[in-house]
Amino acid sequence: MPEVLLLNGPNLSTLGRRQPEIYGTDTLADIEKAVSEEIAVRGWGLTAVQSESEADLILALQDAYGTVGAIINPGALMIAGWSLRDALASYPRPWIEVHLSNVWARESFRHESVISPLASGVIAGLGAYGYRLAARALTRRVED
Ligand code: DQA
Repeated sequence: MPEVLLLNGPNLSTLGRRQPEIYGTDTLADIEKAVSEEIAVRGWGLTAVQSESEADLILALQDAYGTVGAIINPGALMIAGWSLRDALASYPRPWIEVHLSNVWARESFRHESVISPLASGVIAGLGAYGYRLAARALTRRVED
């Protein structure tokens, strides 16, 4: 079965109880379920990886060259995750960057992403719904 890679970086394991006024009340399990539902229309399955460590995310990407596409929320690694950026540069499929919060409406240190220039698209500020939209975009973008 074709698979989509869903990568979530540091601190996203605590969604649901992490600053809900900023990140909402959906848990990571809720988000994984939502993405699974969206990609099921194409008969695709989900490989979901969350880690607090940049190294684990890189290893997951290196293992995922056979996936049809990816959705990634790098968390704060967006700011200076240069190794993650290099791994994404070698990932051969379309991928979409998602942020739950509107990072440009927040502290200035969140305004730069070293990975965004490589993404097929970026969704920010729409909460957990952003992951659903990213999944939907992938189902339309990826050729059979
Ligand atoms: C985040 C935004 C980042 O700035 C922050 O470090 C996160 C979450 C978001 O989804 O809004 O961990 O990526």
